[in-house]
Amino acid sequence: MLLDGKIAIVTGASSGIGRAIALRYAAEGASVVIADVIEAPIEGGETTLELIEQAGGTALFVRTDISDWNAVDALVMTTTTTFGRLDVIVNNAATYTSTTLLETTPEQWNKVLSVNLTGFFFCSKRAVQQMLEQEPVNDVRGRIINISSQHGMVACPGDFPYSVSKGGIVQMTRQIAVDHAAQGIICNAVAPGTIVTGKPGIANDPDALSYSRSRTPLPRLGRPDDVAGAALFLASDMSTYVTGINLMVDGGWMAG
Ligand SMILES: NC(=O)c1ccc[n+]([C@@H]2O[C@H](COP(=O)([O-])OP(=O)(O)OC[C@H]3O[C@@H](n4cnc5c(N)ncnc54)[C@H](O)[C@@H]3O)[C@@H](O)[C@H]2O)c1
Repeated sequence: MLLDGKIAIVTGASSGIGRAIALRYAAEGASVVIADVIEAPIEGGETTLELIEQAGGTALFVRTDISDWNAVDALVMTTTTTFGRLDVIVNNAATYTSTTLLETTPEQWNKVLSVNLTGFFFCSKRAVQQMLEQEPVNDVRGRIINISSQHGMVACPGDFPYSVSKGGIVQMTRQIAVDHAAQGIICNAVAPGTIVTGKPGIANDPDALSYSRSRTPLPRLGRPDDVAGAALFLASDMSTYVTGINLMVDGGWMAG
């Protein structure tokens, strides 16, 4: 198994892409800490914790708002108290408003940036503090995987704060990768294209999905497990000399 004995935190792992990553990591032998503001999946069904335990895996749910430093601190403390170390953190939890520059209120701007940028900053900082106290394994002290978006590279029509936040995550990834490479920290991003998840709003609007289908070279939209596969590669010892990249999982959208 690719993550045998590894300890991983996945934020926003109750639903969607984070849930698929948590399930995949657990199936590959990792002990997974599910960090989310809610435990019930947006798409319905059993919780991520229940699914992992039913499959014989190891997991823990820790209710965490990533925009709250004290909650993030407690998340890492609980992880290390329970499992002894932290090998991987997947920064996946995010929010959006579907508003343009003129529609976006200061409150909406602050909300999106506080989760999508400040939350990623808090989780990365607290994880690296912990990782630097650990002995390296195969030259790696720890790994950060940031879920960005194709909309960190091209604009997200009608979603100003989200798009700005995703652009920031792409640059945050490079900055952490460069600043902490010498200390054995590996930091990469995964940029999904259109991935069908259960979240409400524009993301599941039939017209928007139909446009995405026609715009994507591969003849289907993405699935959460497509992103999980990329996040598995970047978490595993299969990638030990890859850092600072933004790996697109978009069916070829950004190539055309
Ligand atoms: N679905 C797509 O098409 C797509 C495309 C590109 C990028 N992404 C990115 O992938 C990631 C996951 O997207 P998704 O579609 O699975 O979303 P989702 O809305 O289905 O799930 C997001 C999860 O994050 C949790 N969350 C929200 N705010 C939080 C907070 N402050 N603290 C902790 N948890 C919080 C939610 O409760 C939810 O469980 C996001 O970063 C998103 O920007 C998704």
